[in-house]
Amino acid sequence: MAIDETKLNAFMGRFVGDLGAVMHAATVVVGDQLGLYKRLAEGPADVETLAKRTETDPRYLREWLSAQAASGYVEYDPKTERFSLSEEQALALAQEGSPAFIPGAFQIAVAQFKAIPKMAQAMRTGLGLGWHEHDASLFHGTERFFRPGYAANLVSAWIPALEGVEARLKAGASVADVGCGHGASTVIMAQAYPESTFVGFDYHAPSIEHARAAARAAGVDDRVRFEVARAQDYPGGGYDLVAVFDCLHDMGDPVGAAAHVRSTLKDDGTWLIVEPYAQDRLEDNLNPVGRVFYSASTFICTPASRSQEVGACLGAQAGEQRLRDVVTKGGFRHFRRATETPFNLVLEARP
Ligand SMILES: C[S@@+](CC[C@H](N)C(=O)[O-])C[C@H]1O[C@@H](n2cnc3c(N)ncnc32)[C@H](O)[C@@H]1O
Repeated sequence: MAIDETKLNAFMGRFVGDLGAVMHAATVVVGDQLGLYKRLAEGPADVETLAKRTETDPRYLREWLSAQAASGYVEYDPKTERFSLSEEQALALAQEGSPAFIPGAFQIAVAQFKAIPKMAQAMRTGLGLGWHEHDASLFHGTERFFRPGYAANLVSAWIPALEGVEARLKAGASVADVGCGHGASTVIMAQAYPESTFVGFDYHAPSIEHARAAARAAGVDDRVRFEVARAQDYPGGGYDLVAVFDCLHDMGDPVGAAAHVRSTLKDDGTWLIVEPYAQDRLEDNLNPVGRVFYSASTFICTPASRSQEVGACLGAQAGEQRLRDVVTKGGFRHFRRATETPFNLVLEARP
């Protein structure tokens, strides 16, 4: 078969971009870890100045800065030989908690690389790989990557998009955040609705420890508690709102979880389901966002579900139709897309 040189060159061009991004990812993680972006955000600096500011080796720092400049993650001025962060780069790389903060995403990528041996084995055997079996960079990276999206959208847009929920939370409601991880969403809701009480559940004990510390640090631990429990049998009942953020598709038995949510919800309560943005058909998800989610889903979400009972393996690109099926099988009669962002589907289910 004849090789089309133009197509090959286009593919190689794409490959160089991809390889650069993959190699660059490690430099983002180390820069974040050492506070290099944060210190550079204090003002333009040449290598020596930033080395003193960050207490790092100047030769290594020169190479790191050069990599950042080549990646478009810092600016370089050849006249002054100084490096700097633009306002936008600083927002994305140096301001923890900003709505555009991205270093957490690269920590998730680190966890994927560390999981290669386990995943190669899992792909041969078909056995699962539980959330808890990953490197801890997954848990911290997920919290740091997801929290900005919750801070930007949850209280201002997602809860107001649900029928009657905002008023109930303001008046004082009982809320369960199931699969809460490090509790970022739980704490954000608790801070916004001081009359309401919250409980966060997750089967992963180290995440629950972390969530408890986060609630204490935020000063909301008088109204927020966290417990190790599974979505399919967590304790309590009579909740006004149950929320699941980016975890229904990770569960082995999402229908069992849906049925349990129904049984713990008041008859006029609401189930908020936040899931990765996806269309229903594979061909409609073949885009940059789908690429991120399918890759993460291969290593994290799908094997996490496979590791649990039933092993439904919805995947991170389940899409609204498949999620509707899960929710209605769990006993909910009302289901609708309340709103969305480029990264999230925000779904409302009611009994
Ligand atoms: C992608 S993380 C999302 C965490 C958190 N909701 C957030 O948005 O930051 C998925 C979470 O689901 C939890 N999880 C998976 N299966 C679960 C189950 N059956 N019951 C409870 N939690 C579960 C994992 O431990 C993990 O914390």
